[in-house]
Amino acid sequence: MHPVIDTGGRPLSELLPRLWAHLSRRRRRQFVAVVLAAVVSAGMEMASLGSVLPFIAVLVDPDMALDHAIVARLAGVLGIESTRDLVIPLTVGFVGLAVVAAGFRLAVLWLGIRFAVATGADLNAEVYLRTLHQPYPVHMSRSSSEVISGIVDKVEVVGGGVLYPIQCIITSVVMIMAILITLMLVNPLVAVGTMIGFGGAYAVISVVSRHRLRRHGTLIAEKQTLVLSNLQEGLGGIRDVLLDGTQPVFTESYRQVDRPLRRAVGDIQFIVTAPRFVMEAVGMIVIAVLALVLSRQVGGVAGALPVLGALALGGQRILPALQMAFASWSMIVSKRAHLDEAIRLLEQPLPEGYDEEAPTARGVDDVVRFRDVSFRYAQDEPWVLEGINLDIPAGSSLGVVGGTGSGKSTLLDVFMGLLTPQEGSVSIDGEVLTDRRCRSWQRAVAHVPQHIFLADTTIANNIAFGFGEELIDVDRVV
Ligand SMILES: Nc1ncnc2c1ncn2[C@@H]1O[C@H](COP(=O)(O)OP(=O)(O)OP(=O)(O)O)[C@@H](O)[C@H]1O
Ligand SMILES: [Mg+2]
Repeated sequence: MHPVIDTGGRPLSELLPRLWAHLSRRRRRQFVAVVLAAVVSAGMEMASLGSVLPFIAVLVDPDMALDHAIVARLAGVLGIESTRDLVIPLTVGFVGLAVVAAGFRLAVLWLGIRFAVATGADLNAEVYLRTLHQPYPVHMSRSSSEVISGIVDKVEVVGGGVLYPIQCIITSVVMIMAILITLMLVNPLVAVGTMIGFGGAYAVISVVSRHRLRRHGTLIAEKQTLVLSNLQEGLGGIRDVLLDGTQPVFTESYRQVDRPLRRAVGDIQFIVTAPRFVMEAVGMIVIAVLALVLSRQVGGVAGALPVLGALALGGQRILPALQMAFASWSMIVSKRAHLDEAIRLLEQPLPEGYDEEAPTARGVDDVVRFRDVSFRYAQDEPWVLEGINLDIPAGSSLGVVGGTGSGKSTLLDVFMGLLTPQEGSVSIDGEVLTDRRCRSWQRAVAHVPQHIFLADTTIANNIAFGFGEELIDVDRVV
């Protein structure tokens, strides 16, 4: 058996390095580039934040402005003597810096999303390729809903649910540090106090919600598979459903898996969003208290205004950064089970020489020979074929007759090289069906299955199943 979902669960510390190993070199470089751009963006934020101080100082008291070293130098460069003339250039400079910083942030956001999307596409294609290359017994042992949910639900979230949040965390941490350094220059005590207060609060929330996020995430991953298998059963057996009138049975069992899934999604959403509102209220309180304290110091509110302005702006920046870091972290924790499954699918082995050009079709000239062929589906299951000896001359027709479950389909799957007998051998013109010979043999086999599969396309495309439209010879189809 090849279980697709392992409920044991590997920790993120093991999964994340494995994910990194599955990124192409190009994607890794892009990841680093996005993170570097984010760091530069954080630097600009800091500059924009830092410039608020001289700016407000000039507005409050233009005559004092020249005491600031930066302002004085700027005035010298611009050839300005009257400090009042500084107000307009400073405003323009301040606004300009803010606009550039915002523009850079937008660019970083865009790059980050683009990276996540492109990487998600890479990983999905990789998983699909590897899945399609798995030998037939692997496919038989899995339910298709596990595989489909693996690709559609699990691998799907790796880009947006893991890689992008990692970038967001790095960006926010750099941003938080940049803002903290700026605040330190303004008032170290207040900066440290604010950080310990807000940072500590988020740390507590993280510890409290960690297990819940993880548990909900695992539940979602499991239920997503069940939702799909329910849909597949209901729609796949639609003839029986219609004949037996079992619609309520199917809808009820659908509801039973869908409802807890959605509840878990909702819970996670709440955990991710809720701290923001609490922290905003705390932020308002902090500003109010500080304003009160500072206004009682020498110089009153007017003297404290630059400090308060920087603090308000710092808080306005630091809270979203903290919230972003927390939300991103929660997102990754709640996607652990998804990532686990995605890594498992990404680590499906590829057969040797899978990317070599397919060998040309080579059928039988003389005889297909079964020699003492025995086959069973698993070690602990009864033999389905036992000691089969059979010569099938080229050009002959053969009918296999037997009751339901007697092994006719199994015999044909062995004949086609889809299943390998545990004992004995199948040979074509004296050449045993090994991996090498198997591919050229299979290319020569035409197969009409017991359960036919019609793709949702034209008749011609169905006949030429899996080959490009341009390869279809319409005359031969007709
Ligand atoms: N994937 C599988 N895993 C385990 N056992 C299997 C699997 N597929 C078939 N079997 C078992 O192997 C035996 C032979 O099945 P097979 O499908 O070859 O019979 P069949 O002769 O084709 O039947 P039918 O006439 O219904 O098509 C059956 O007992 C069946 O239960
Ligand atoms: Mg059969």
